[in-house]
Amino acid sequence: MTEAPRAIHPRPRSVRDLLLAPATRGVLLATSRDPDAKLTFIVTPPPGTYPNGPVAIKIPATPVAASAIRSETRMLLDLREVPMGSMAQTVPQYVDTLDSDGLPALVSTALRGTPMSIGYHHWLHTARPHLVATDFALAAGWLRRFQMATAGERGRIEWAAEVGDQLRHRWPGHPHLAAALVRLTSADHQLGVQEVARTMVHGDYWFGNLLLTDGVISGVVDWEAGAHSGWPLRDLVRFALSYCLYLDRHTRPGHRVLRHRGLRRIGFGPGITYGLLGDGWLPDLVRYYLRDGLVSLGLPPDLWYSAALTGLGEVAALANDDDFGSNHLDLLAGLPLWPTDHHGQGAGR
Ligand SMILES: Nc1ncnc2c1ncn2[C@@H]1O[C@H](COP(=O)(O)OP(=O)(O)O)[C@@H](O)[C@H]1O
Ligand SMILES: [Mg+2]
Repeated sequence: MTEAPRAIHPRPRSVRDLLLAPATRGVLLATSRDPDAKLTFIVTPPPGTYPNGPVAIKIPATPVAASAIRSETRMLLDLREVPMGSMAQTVPQYVDTLDSDGLPALVSTALRGTPMSIGYHHWLHTARPHLVATDFALAAGWLRRFQMATAGERGRIEWAAEVGDQLRHRWPGHPHLAAALVRLTSADHQLGVQEVARTMVHGDYWFGNLLLTDGVISGVVDWEAGAHSGWPLRDLVRFALSYCLYLDRHTRPGHRVLRHRGLRRIGFGPGITYGLLGDGWLPDLVRYYLRDGLVSLGLPPDLWYSAALTGLGEVAALANDDDFGSNHLDLLAGLPLWPTDHHGQGAGR
């Protein structure tokens, strides 16, 4: 018996070669908006073109998006060098760079899982303490292992000072800049006297970039904003802030958010003020998560509020979208310099 000869597929050089090959099977997963417009496909390439299974292909539509894709490529290459043990399976492996009308498209291994954002937006998901606690525990657990695997040199935490500079640069003349900077200066006084080991940073560690399978994190995607060496507090805080930001998403304007006493959909991001300073199971959980994450990094838990202020400033400084950034600046400028006493600095864990 002789086997039918297998078709030899040449390695693709362009996105067109890959997507239009007759043997390619795939789906368009996501599109994102200007100026950072990208398309993400998951495709099963023709046999023999790439070593292992389905791949994700991220295609830039603009030069700005292309530079984000170049950064992500560098980050995936850096990640390849890190001995991460079983965690390596949760990070996309770099496979190839293809031409897309003169811009680079990134091909990486496709990871299994459903974004945490799908569950988050299920009706009443964020009204249920055990579901929310699980989300926070998963995010915290992955991050802790990642930070342990990538910890490098220790240094004084200059994060708040850096964010202050970034804010000045991004928002000169903004009516709330001065108030925001006062908060960052206060945060810098707290953070700047502490040392921490720098780690790799994901840079956009929000629940839409975490993939879940059977109740565990099976993938962490979207490394565009990653850093080889940075402040581990960035990812810790970003997850909490972004989780709180959308709590009011399914509530009509002006109305109370179900099962969150004290949270109404008024203005931009009321969930963030609530999550940091409110009373209730969710704010307690958010503060616990932040304190616990700091302790894991060898830092005093009381720094949680300074870290949160700095994280808000960072979103204001780095957001792709001007309105999103400016709204975070306003939010930061409107927060108290210190958390209210009973959530306070000395409250321990
Ligand atoms: N390597 C991958 N494996 C599986 N799914 C992926 C992969 N990369 C991206 N995705 C999916 O595509 C979506 C968009 O990709 P992402 O890298 O987050 O792009 P964007 O920068 O547009 O947010 C992700 O939320 C995820 O669902
Ligand atoms: Mg994403």
